[in-house]
Parts: sequence; structure tokens; C-alpha cells
Amino acid sequence: MKKIVLLIAFLSTNILLMATEIKSPNGALVLNVMVKDRVPIYWLNYKSRPVIKQSRLGLQLKNDTALTEGFVISNNTITRFDETWQPVWGEVKSIRNNYNELAVTLTQAATQRSIIVRFRLFNDGLGFRYEFPLQEKLNYFIIKEETTQFALAGDHKAFWLPGDFDTEEYSTVTSKLSEVRGRIKAAVTPNSSQTTFSETGVQTPLMLKSDDGLYINIHEAALLNYACLSLNLDDKNFILESFLTPDAIGDKGYLQTPCLSPWRTIVVSDKATDILESKLILNLNEPTKFTDVSWIKPVKYVGVWWEMITGRSTWAYNNLSTVQIDKLDYSKTPPNGKHGANTAHVKEYIDFAAQHGFDAVLVEGWNIGWEDWFGKWKDNVFDFVTPYPDFDVKEIHRYAASKGIKMIMHHETSGAVPNYERRIDTAYRFMVNNGYNAVKSGYVGDILPRGEHHYGQWMVNHFNYAITKAAKYKIMVNAHEAVHPTGLSRTYPNLISNEAARGTEYEAFGGNNPDHTTILPFTRLMGGPMDYTPGIFETRISKINLTNTSFVHSTLARQLGLYVTMYSPLQMAGDLPENYNRFLDAFQFIKDVAIDWDDTKVLEAEPGDYITIARKAKGTNNWFIGNTSDENGHQSTIKLRFLDTRKKYKAIIYADAKDVHYETSPQAYTIKKMVVTNKTELSLKAAPGGGFAVSIIEVSAKKNSKIVIKQQFKYINVK
Ligand code: NOJ
Ligand code: CA
Repeated sequence: MKKIVLLIAFLSTNILLMATEIKSPNGALVLNVMVKDRVPIYWLNYKSRPVIKQSRLGLQLKNDTALTEGFVISNNTITRFDETWQPVWGEVKSIRNNYNELAVTLTQAATQRSIIVRFRLFNDGLGFRYEFPLQEKLNYFIIKEETTQFALAGDHKAFWLPGDFDTEEYSTVTSKLSEVRGRIKAAVTPNSSQTTFSETGVQTPLMLKSDDGLYINIHEAALLNYACLSLNLDDKNFILESFLTPDAIGDKGYLQTPCLSPWRTIVVSDKATDILESKLILNLNEPTKFTDVSWIKPVKYVGVWWEMITGRSTWAYNNLSTVQIDKLDYSKTPPNGKHGANTAHVKEYIDFAAQHGFDAVLVEGWNIGWEDWFGKWKDNVFDFVTPYPDFDVKEIHRYAASKGIKMIMHHETSGAVPNYERRIDTAYRFMVNNGYNAVKSGYVGDILPRGEHHYGQWMVNHFNYAITKAAKYKIMVNAHEAVHPTGLSRTYPNLISNEAARGTEYEAFGGNNPDHTTILPFTRLMGGPMDYTPGIFETRISKINLTNTSFVHSTLARQLGLYVTMYSPLQMAGDLPENYNRFLDAFQFIKDVAIDWDDTKVLEAEPGDYITIARKAKGTNNWFIGNTSDENGHQSTIKLRFLDTRKKYKAIIYADAKDVHYETSPQAYTIKKMVVTNKTELSLKAAPGGGFAVSIIEVSAKKNSKIVIKQQFKYINVK
């Protein structure tokens, strides 16, 4: 009898201690969750291999008992979900959102508080978040730190950026996790005012590869009213732990129940291509609440921009160094002779855009204040409505409209966010009245007034405020220096792109590593599209501005490939019209390439080495292929099996010429035309720092019999 009682007691304790297990819809991923010693933990396996070992969950609160221990599981709810939805714009026409969900209610008896951890297990990975229901004992609270762990199974290869609360504009470091500590100081841009938050702190999305070939990506989804996630590494045990961006006084978030954390995401596969095809982060965001989305349209644009970045012209109108906006009368100050945004010059860009079928023209430096844009008066330097005397807003509006070109507004806030918020309605109304339906915003410099970080809860709320406010005016937003994207474009599709990484502009500030664009899709782009501004044909910056010795770390052919590999519904042709006019045959690809897609096939990929992607243009049977390769180049064999078996296509192949190298001879390319079918196999070689681009255009059935592709021709342009 005694034995039986003991056995029952033993069994019931074990039942309480047992983990709850759920599987992904295809069974490849297995998640376990339990409370062990009253601490909530989870672990994740992929095809029986550990992805995340037993890891703790929880949060520390300021002036309150931590939500990290003392828990029992008071409820487990398991559900399934399967739907297919259509994005307003995207890499594919429709997206399947299919997961098994486990919602675990954790109750802390001593404080009478409960939280829910909701796990969603997809075929491509795991998402989970904290939910804080409205309750008497948990009402307002301040987060001291979130303590979510990701315990890794080994010393993985990592593609990382140093932890920083204000910029992602770094070159990615590729190293073992155990090497982060030794390399982090050198990774921070020399002379930068930025500091890392610890000796082992890294940003997300963090891309990892295990020795046995598992690809793991850790990031977050639906970052709303919460501080941005970074990760602190315990490099003895390879445990990553969440580290939230603090506010100006060190707090990490002010919340009021009912409320939610963003989703913590782990995308995993044994194929690198699956990581790039994952839609997990979008799926974890809410469907759009916009009822009318007809005004949201992908945009291909040129702009008065690269000439300022390279130093040939200026944003500022004159040579003054400080300007107090209310005091200065610009009509009485002489121009410096290098002001880019003048009416006549902008009209040249409008002509060029119209001639080559672009949608829009961006103009930076059109409004007064740039003389002191991050100086003494920056808290009030821009009003976003007053043009320089040589920029005629009405005439530009009339001229652009007459040519069917949209203008893209530029709002550089220089981080003076209260100034921007105070003026935002007037600024957006001014845009509507003058025919602008898209804005590129910028947040260069320290955030005013009290030194918030770019990625703290306060700025996360500002970025989102600007997007939702813009939607009221039917304005699309492309925010630069913004917090890392987390798939919010599903909910707010007018968030048409972001910078939030080291873009092409750095090619004029010393250069990007040749493998940079083979990494970004695995890191930054996991959260959403990037305004990378590719298409630089004149790779020697000194050809534009004698005093600038930088060069683009890419071949010309690769600049074309980037229009396919760097997904964005907002794509710029970044170079000067005069450079495109020198290479009009190569420019043809930028004119032809689509910016919105029905389908995407990631043909081959290895982070840090190469990426080749094929995409099917929206509403057509045309395909575009792009490749970007690192300093070693890459040999690709591409089977066009994705083409329709019944159709014939004309392919134009833009590739690096023989002996091309990104450092010594980046501009030589070949263009080859041929007829292809779904049986065709293409053998294409990317040079060191090179790439290629292919357009595959359906030949309509009628013309089919008549297609004559003139003798394959080869054009080599050598400097
Ligand atoms: C930095 C942005 O990334 C760049 O595109 C812009 O031209 C400058 N800020 C000025 O706003
Ligand atoms: Ca490499």
C-alpha cells in the first residue's frame, strides 16, 4: 500500500515536470516547453538535431518581483492554423501561414500574476512571444531586462554586427561565436561615436551556421511599442540572451496590460536557400488593417542623391556653417554653385526618368536648413515645407506630372524627432498638395531632445507613428537610419522599404566588403526590404569627384544582379544619368527588371559566398535572375526548370567579361541573347566580387514562329 502511494506521488510529480511537446506541420521541428525548478524553459530540435538547447524564458521588472521564476504551468492550449494570404506587394503572390501553436499560461503563485508564452511552430522555424493579460497584480510595469535565452548547440559560425543601439551601418563580421569577444572592438567603425553594449553583444538578425550544416537565423517579428532586441553572448556555453535597447535613463520599456512583446524568431533549415525563402517573420505579423491599398505601388526611381554622396554637389544651398532657420533670409545669401536640387537640374532627372520608364524621382537637399543639419540649431533646422530659392516646387510638380513622373519627398530629420512630429501633418499635407506620394525619411545623428537611442521603445513608437500617420495621407514611407525591420510591412504595406543597414552609399565612404551583398539577405533583409540603392556603373568614385578615392567593391554586372538578389518593392537606379548614358545596353536590364513578383526561387545560396535567385515578374510569364558573389567569384549551373514547359522565351544574359575583377577591371561585361526553354541549362560565371543578371521574356505564341535571335552578340566594354 505504502509503495502504491509512493508510486502515485512519484508519477504525479513527474507529470507536472513533464514537458509539453509540439511538432511543426511537417514534423521536422519539435518544440518542448516545461517548468523546471519553477523556471520556464523551452528547447527546439530539427530532424532530431538540437537547434536550441534548454533555454530560460522570462523578464526582470524594475521595482517589482521578476517574471523569471516561481512559476507553475496553469494551462496549455494547443491549436493548429493554416491559411493562405496575398501580400499587397512581395516576393511571391501568395503566402501560406501554417503552424501548430502552444499557448502556455505561467502562473506565479506568490505574486498572483500570470503571463502567457505563445509558441508558433512552422515548417521553417519557431516564433514565440510574451503576452501580459490585464490583471489586478500586473497593471503598469517597467522592464529592466528581458531574459530570453537561445542556448546554441555549439560554437557556430556567425555573421554578426556589434551590438549598438543607434546604427546597423556596419560591415558584417564572419567568425566563430568564440571569436566575437576578440573581434568586437575592431568591428566598430574607427572614430565612430558608437559603443557596443558589451564585449559579446551582437545585433539581430543574427545568422548562424553549425559545423554540421544547420542554418539558424535569430531575429524578432512585429516590433511594436517595445525596445529593439539585441543578443548578449555567453561565449563559454554559447548561450545568447536577449538584451533590449535602453531608453535615455536606462529603462527598457514601459508597458501597460493588456500588452505583448514582439515575437522572438528562430528560422532553421539544413538548406541555406530555405532561410531566404522563409516567410515566418511576415506570417507572425498581423494582416493589414488598411481597407484601401490601391494607392500603395512599388516604385523604381532615380534621384538627385549620388552626386551629393560622392561629394560632387551639395545638399546645402550656400556656404554658411550655422543657420537658425527662423532668422536667415536665404534669398539674400549667395548660392555656393554646387547646390544639386535646383529646378533646371531636377528637370534633367525628370527627363531621364521619363525617357527610360522610371516611376519617380527623389530630390534631396530641396529644403532650407542643410547648412547646419546636424549642428548647433538642429532641433529646429528643418521645417519640411520651405524650399531653397532655386527649387521651384510648383514648377517641378507641373513638369513632373506632365511627364508622368512622381516626385519622392525627402525629410531628413537629423534626429530632431519632436521637431518632426510637431510639423508632420503640415509636411505630409504639403506633399499631397504638391504631388508627392512617397517620402524618404532620415534620422542621422543623436536623437533629440533627451538622447534616446534610435532603437529604444520611444523611437520604435515614433517610426510606427510616422508610418500610420503617413497612411492617413496615402503616403508611402522609406525610413533610413530606422530600427531593424521586423515584417511590419504586412500590417502597414505603405512601409515600402527601409535602409537600416550599410547601404551602397558606403561604397563612396571607403567601400563595402565584396561579400557584403551575399550576407545582407541572410541578416538585414530577413525583416523586410532594403533600399540598398544599387546600380552604380561608374565604380571609380574619383571619376565623379576627383578628391574621393573610394571605389565600388563590385563589378558592373553584379550591380545588375542586385536588383534581383536584394529584394525591395522600392528600387533605385543609384548612379548619375551621365554614367547610365555611357552603358545604355547594360542599363537596359535595370529598365526591364520587375519590382513586384508572383514567384521567387532561391536557386543556390551560401551566406558570405554567393546568392542566385530567380523571380517571376508580377502578372507576366517573365523571369529575372540575379547573382552576387564574394571575392572568390562563383560558377553557377542554372536549370531553367521553373519556366513554363509550353512556352518559349528570349533570354538576355548580362555577365562579367573574362578576367574581370572588382578591384582591377570591374566594368567589362558581356551581353548575350538566346532562346531558352525549361530544358535549357545556363552555365554562368561570376568574377571575383562579380555577379550576373538574366532577363527571360516570354515570346508570345503568335510571334513564336518568327523569333529570330540575331547571332549571339558580345559586347565588351573595357575602360
Ligand atoms: C543618410 C542616408 O542613408 C542617405 O541616403 C541620405 O542621403 C543622407 N542620410 C542625407 O539624408
Ligand atoms: Ca566568402
